[in-house]
Amino acid sequence: MKLKIALLPGDGIGPEVAAQAVACLQAVEEHFGHTFTFSEALVGAIAIEKTGDPLPETTLNLCKRADAVLFGAIGDPKYDNDPGAKVRPEQGLLRLRKELGLFSNIRPVKVFPTLLDKSPLRKEIVSGTDFVIYRELTGGIYFGEKKWSEDGTTASDLCEYHESEISRIAHLAFKAAKSRRQKLTLVDKANVLESSRLWRKVVTKISESYPEVTLNYLFVDNAAMQLILNPSQFDVILTENMFGDILSDEGSVIGGSIGLLPSASVGTENAMFEPIHGSYPQATGKNIANPIASILSAAMLLDHFNLKEEAIAVVNAVNKALKKGLVTPDLNPKSKYGTDDVGHFIASHISDEDDYRGLNKENIGLGKSTII
Ligand code: IPM
Ligand code: MG
Repeated sequence: MKLKIALLPGDGIGPEVAAQAVACLQAVEEHFGHTFTFSEALVGAIAIEKTGDPLPETTLNLCKRADAVLFGAIGDPKYDNDPGAKVRPEQGLLRLRKELGLFSNIRPVKVFPTLLDKSPLRKEIVSGTDFVIYRELTGGIYFGEKKWSEDGTTASDLCEYHESEISRIAHLAFKAAKSRRQKLTLVDKANVLESSRLWRKVVTKISESYPEVTLNYLFVDNAAMQLILNPSQFDVILTENMFGDILSDEGSVIGGSIGLLPSASVGTENAMFEPIHGSYPQATGKNIANPIASILSAAMLLDHFNLKEEAIAVVNAVNKALKKGLVTPDLNPKSKYGTDDVGHFIASHISDEDDYRGLNKENIGLGKSTII
């Protein structure tokens, strides 16, 4: 298969971890006989520095023409601590999501059995955790009208949804649930918010077309608690933009490190793959960042294009690194392995055919069991 991949390394540790994902994709290319072309472009704080714009037109055009976008990370503390800053790195990512129509953000949370003791929660609580968050990504409070009063003492962000924005992601989430454990939890705040009541109405109606899927509802405050109390109860979580942002960070640490979790953001025309972690500025250039979330994002990219065997090969190589203790210091403070050692080990084990030949390809569809 020929794929044009736009590579947006971004800020902080983004370039270091994205480089390891590229190395793994190149190993896949070589071993399985595909042709992937990578074109790199600026985004985020680095793009502001070089062009004044967090999403330069050239970057946007490159992404629009590409089959997929591989994204590193975004953000720089110098903007976080300046509430008056007019231009921010994050605007680049938000605009990119909107322009590419990436309305569905898919964040799988699966604990690796070899890492059970890394979780901040007790083993018996996290064991068996395997859920996927479907987060709406181009609507809600992130994109509603923003206002400041003249005197600068009042500010507001509007949370607005149209039923079409809810139904398109709801269908994807129901389809995922259908092929997993047939359970979908809608997370909202319908006891308080009108927009949440619209979500309930639309999602309840859609559930009639998926009789095999059990739909249940949770208020977001309760969901935050349930994720810690009993994370293995969840299969597919469907939620709006900001609740999904918050719950996915919470979910990410259940498995022991935020450095492990990948994500896919998909629309009808485009798709983007990125680790869910941020730019981790304190680690920049130190060769200590965990590249696994970025590498697993590359696996989700392969899976998205139906390259199932290739995706399994990457996931198996990751598992091998974890089993052998070939990990960065976030997973083992005594580890002497750096970002590039881990990436190199994984890339060089992608050709270990014995691991994936004969596996049931059906099982590894996005959000199903073996992949991440
Ligand atoms: C994420 C991030 C982004 C978000 C930021 C960087 C704008 O936290 O992808 O979860 O809030 O969506
Ligand atoms: Mg976030």
